[in-house]
Amino acid sequence: MDAAVHVLVFPWPRQGHINPMLQFATALVDTGIQVTFLHTEHNLRRFAQAHPPGLRLLSIPDGLPDDHPRGFLAFMESMCTAGSAAYRALLLALLSAADAPVTCVVADGTMPFAIEIPEEFGIPALSFVTHSACSYLAFLSMPKLVELGETPFTADDLVCSVPGMEGFLRRRDLPRGLYCTEQGDGDPLVLKFAEAVGRTSKACALIFNTAASMERPALAHLASGTSDVFAIGPLHARSSSAASPSLWREDDGCMAWLDGHEDRSVVYVSLGSLAVITHEQFTEFLSGLAATGYAFLWVLRPGMVKTTSPALLGEAVGAAEGGKGRVVEWAPQRDVLRHRAVGCFLTHAGWNSTLECAVEGMPMVCWPFFVDQQTNSRFVGAVWKTGLDMKDVCERGVVERTVREVMASNEIRAAAQAMAQQLRLDVAEAGSSSSELERLVRFVRELSV
Ligand code: UDX
Repeated sequence: MDAAVHVLVFPWPRQGHINPMLQFATALVDTGIQVTFLHTEHNLRRFAQAHPPGLRLLSIPDGLPDDHPRGFLAFMESMCTAGSAAYRALLLALLSAADAPVTCVVADGTMPFAIEIPEEFGIPALSFVTHSACSYLAFLSMPKLVELGETPFTADDLVCSVPGMEGFLRRRDLPRGLYCTEQGDGDPLVLKFAEAVGRTSKACALIFNTAASMERPALAHLASGTSDVFAIGPLHARSSSAASPSLWREDDGCMAWLDGHEDRSVVYVSLGSLAVITHEQFTEFLSGLAATGYAFLWVLRPGMVKTTSPALLGEAVGAAEGGKGRVVEWAPQRDVLRHRAVGCFLTHAGWNSTLECAVEGMPMVCWPFFVDQQTNSRFVGAVWKTGLDMKDVCERGVVERTVREVMASNEIRAAAQAMAQQLRLDVAEAGSSSSELERLVRFVRELSV
């Protein structure tokens, strides 16, 4: 262990941020760097599984009682006040520790305070971006888009002011607020993210969990800005066994259920860790899936469907399970995606899910919700051509048609597999992402001197 270098890694405390930052922390530990990983007390209590070995875990309060729903804005507010005060105090203690004080911070770009506080203390801080470089660039361009009147963000018009994405990015592919509303430029979630991206883009470096082969133009534009840019992903592809502790209880029967199915005969459905759907949307998806005739494995987190009739919802889930469906609270997603029985992934196109799919060469059907997902799904459908984008349409007929098309398409499967092959090269020794990770480790060591 190199005691002269001690990195504090601090993710935004949500599953989709914790996963890639834990993979990053593990990659640092593998190089001999000492790493402390910072959770919230609430999350640390919920994690059932062990973390990867070699990490020191610490936690701070997020300022909310355990039974609080932690909606985005309330959670952000609490993290920026109570969370930030606790972080400041902890950081001060870690900086003055007699043995191995913290020498560098890598914090999630969602929390500008997590980067600005160490900088106040003279400690270098790097911003880790858990979404795509393209959506980062879109967020960064947001003030200009509003200024130039390239709104509302629901129109089909092509966007002209996001560098490198002219010609295929439409306004409706830009980052969006919660619950698929018609809002865009005025949505508080989008504005918060855009503000965070603007502030954290000034960190001494930006780390992206992406590969140059996926997002070369966006990365080139970002690198021409002020901060150094490192594209080191997909991090999970570095090791098939890296642990990912979950905030939900993983269903342990679904792999055996998949074993009982033919090759490429099952549709895997998951809308990530945050999205909430209406009962009507649930019914449209369910009907569309049932009409395809394919078996499906569907992740429905507790409380994920907003309903006034839990009994009706329970009946529909029961009927799906009586047919060709299996519904689970949480799945071992990476294992599911590499199972031979799975033929496509109906996904919200969250960046982790997109990367996990890409690494397995799995075709995608995208139904994006918010933030970066609109941009990611456009890339899947129009740039990489590794799936289809159902954006904004939630009708059983469209679900049925799109799933059938993706399950049957040799072109989409071939594009997905070509991308997977390239990504394997990128993360292999001397590949672009591996070389970038080595450069980043050197950078962190130099900063820590
Ligand atoms: C959101 C954003 O859209 C994402 O791009 C951003 O960077 C983080 O916040 P989220 O809804 O969490 O993401 O989706 P995603 O980024 O896909 O992450 C979900 C993670 O949970 C994935 O790593 C996935 O493997 C895991 N997961 C999901 C499971 O392990 N089991 C499940 O059943 C469902």
